[in-house]
Amino acid sequence: MQILSFLPLYPALAYAAHSPRQPSYGHQPKPLVPTIWLAGDSTEAPGGGPNGTEGWGQYLQYSFLSSVARVNNSAIAGRSARTFTRDGRFDTIASNVKEGDWVVIEFGHNDGGIPPVNATVGDKGRADCPGAGNETCITVYNNATEIVQTYGTYLKNATRKFLDKKAKVVLSSMTPDNPWEFGNYSYTPNIFTYYTWLAASELGGPAQGVYFVSHGQYAAQAMKNLGKETVDANYPIDHTHTAPFLADVVARSFVLGLKCGTSGLQDLVLNATSRLQGDVLGNCLAVNETLPI
Ligand SMILES: *[C@@H]1O[C@H](CO)[C@@H](O)[C@H](O)[C@H]1NC(C)=O
Ligand SMILES: *[C@@H]1O[C@H](CO)[C@@H](O)[C@H](O)[C@H]1NC(C)=O
Ligand SMILES: *[C@@H]1O[C@H](CO)[C@@H](O)[C@H](O)[C@H]1NC(C)=O
Ligand SMILES: *[C@@H]1O[C@H](CO)[C@@H](O)[C@H](O)[C@H]1NC(C)=O
Ligand SMILES: *[C@@H]1O[C@H](CO)[C@@H](O)[C@H](O)[C@H]1NC(C)=O
Ligand SMILES: *[C@@H]1O[C@H](CO)[C@@H](O)[C@H](O)[C@H]1NC(C)=O
Ligand SMILES: *[C@@H]1O[C@H](CO)[C@@H](O)[C@H](O)[C@H]1NC(C)=O
Ligand SMILES: *[C@@H]1O[C@H](CO)[C@@H](O)[C@H](O)[C@H]1NC(C)=O
Ligand SMILES: *[C@@H]1O[C@H](CO)[C@@H](O)[C@H](O)[C@H]1NC(C)=O
Repeated sequence: MQILSFLPLYPALAYAAHSPRQPSYGHQPKPLVPTIWLAGDSTEAPGGGPNGTEGWGQYLQYSFLSSVARVNNSAIAGRSARTFTRDGRFDTIASNVKEGDWVVIEFGHNDGGIPPVNATVGDKGRADCPGAGNETCITVYNNATEIVQTYGTYLKNATRKFLDKKAKVVLSSMTPDNPWEFGNYSYTPNIFTYYTWLAASELGGPAQGVYFVSHGQYAAQAMKNLGKETVDANYPIDHTHTAPFLADVVARSFVLGLKCGTSGLQDLVLNATSRLQGDVLGNCLAVNETLPI
């Protein structure tokens, strides 16, 4: 990380030092900057949840110089921690991840619903097994028996794989549903927010290269500041999917959450914390020592 942090200042020098004997990797030079891989659902994915909505992951790149870090938005609509695992999408990221990369994992919108307990029909294949620990559920999905894990098990399993590859991991809490939906502002973190920080804690937190970003709470704070009219107008199809303007705000809320924590990823951010805090995004949240931020 020390060497990487010099790259923005001396890109030419750093490149010259490595280039003479570096083997070629196909047609493209191997990027020397870290990649920030995004794993998530439609609230983060390219194209969001259609009909003109957009995922926040598309705006994250603007907070990093491309000479410092690149964003690969591998989020995809409709996915839960369970289906992202079953589809092999964590495996795809793991096979591309390189030392010094970051993986941001954010799920929850599709992880609830009818628990897949002893189901033989009707399991949509997305809901995780309920529980905060290593509970499992047995179900039949697509005519195949599936042992379904809890949300926390899927997150921890994927995170360990990235840590093995010497990447670091940010476990991020899901974005809010429109907090103005019922007239007045109201936001309560749901159970998946708790499971997300529990997973980060159980993996050893910052000491092990695993960080929690309270993204839902930071995004909700910005939406409170923006007010009902603006926020309602930027949830154009439902209470989950954001229009581009709000997706950008949600991305910047994530960046503020990073800056208010301790991960090395915040050092790569273009903007100073003082430039982020203000009337829209608000300030760093007060937290207690139990949060692995
Ligand atoms: C992200 O990474 C995947 C897997 O390596 C690759 O297929 C995809 O093209 C990349 N996307 C971008 C925008 O770089
Ligand atoms: C699921 O099936 C197992 C084994 O038959 C049984 O022990 C358990 O009680 C069932 N659970 C539910 C919620 O039906
Ligand atoms: C599940 O967790 C419990 C309590 O932490 C532990 O005793 C048990 O061995 C675990 N089971 C498996 C299969 O890991
Ligand atoms: C499941 O099995 C039934 C009966 O064999 C078959 O009609 C159906 O197409 C199968 N579904 C899938 C998703 O494979
Ligand atoms: C653990 O994660 C890997 C991908 O990282 C996946 O291939 C495997 O199926 C996962 N295991 C469970 C029990 O989810
Ligand atoms: C919203 O708050 C105002 C002021 O506290 C109150 O008068 C109003 O009844 C509330 N509206 C709803 C829908 O809760
Ligand atoms: C999205 O647009 C399509 C085509 O106009 C429409 O049929 C569909 O109802 C829209 N979905 C939502 C959720 O607004
Ligand atoms: C950081 O600054 C860039 C360039 O001004 C801007 O595009 C980006 O949105 C900013 N990021 C945040 C989190 O405000
Ligand atoms: C610390 O904050 C978390 C999240 O808000 C909360 O659940 C927990 O009870 C707090 N712990 C203490 C010791 O205050």
